[in-house]
Amino acid sequence: MNSLELRGISAAYDRIDVLFDIDLVVPEGNVVALLGPNGAGKSTLLRVAAGLHGPASGDVLVAGRRVNGVPPEELARRGMCLIPEGRGIFPNLTVRENLRMMTFTGTKLSDVEERSFIRFPRLKERIGQTAGTLSGGEQQMLAMARGLATDPALLLLDELSMGLAPIIVEELYEIVAQVAREGVSILVVEQFASTVLGVADYAAILVQGRIVRAGQPHELAEDLSKAYLGA
Ligand SMILES: Nc1ncnc2c1ncn2[C@@H]1O[C@H](COP(=O)(O)OP(=O)(O)OP(=O)(O)O)[C@@H](O)[C@H]1O
Ligand SMILES: [Mg+2]
Repeated sequence: MNSLELRGISAAYDRIDVLFDIDLVVPEGNVVALLGPNGAGKSTLLRVAAGLHGPASGDVLVAGRRVNGVPPEELARRGMCLIPEGRGIFPNLTVRENLRMMTFTGTKLSDVEERSFIRFPRLKERIGQTAGTLSGGEQQMLAMARGLATDPALLLLDELSMGLAPIIVEELYEIVAQVAREGVSILVVEQFASTVLGVADYAAILVQGRIVRAGQPHELAEDLSKAYLGA
């Protein structure tokens, strides 16, 4: 079963086309990496998948069912979780308050906290700290903890590594791999390849709104440099 399938997706902002006939599948429990340079359309693709931006054409399928036009809140209830670029946490609230907001789904705060702190012990030490004063890596951990608090079946991650030191990125991707082993399907978008390819089952390169190459991560290493050099 595919957790997510995009079939012939095109998307535009007003009359400016940004995605062209995209086909992409995320099989259950897999990590799929979508790589591409600035402005390629990666965030747009995630927004289309999450129901935040309607496609101009094509179909979005979640767990085998067409979901075009289904509102994002409903997709979230069905197990989809988007962690947006810039992380989507509340910088003026504490770690605990950020986590507490996730109890809207009906999960108890103590359960949300327990689940978060097992995965991210560092957040426990920082429970009373204002989120905006956390380090970049800790902020990303908080964003992931919030997303995982809802027990998603499909996680969409937009540039997990943005602004973070390589060692922190590696640490976060180890957690991504662990989450996938627990059965969560993950579509992750990155500008730069390195670390994500180590945990991905499948990867695709998006350039100017088109998938120019797709395959096993190890098959793509060479194509990546071409994509970025504009060849
Ligand atoms: N709300 C918007 N209105 C108009 N154009 C937009 C909007 N959002 C994005 N675009 C344009 O769509 C194209 C794709 O943008 P998108 O944010 O999807 O790229 P991206 O691959 O995520 O880039 P980055 O790696 O810089 O985050 C860009 O040319 C961008 O300027
Ligand atoms: Mg983006």
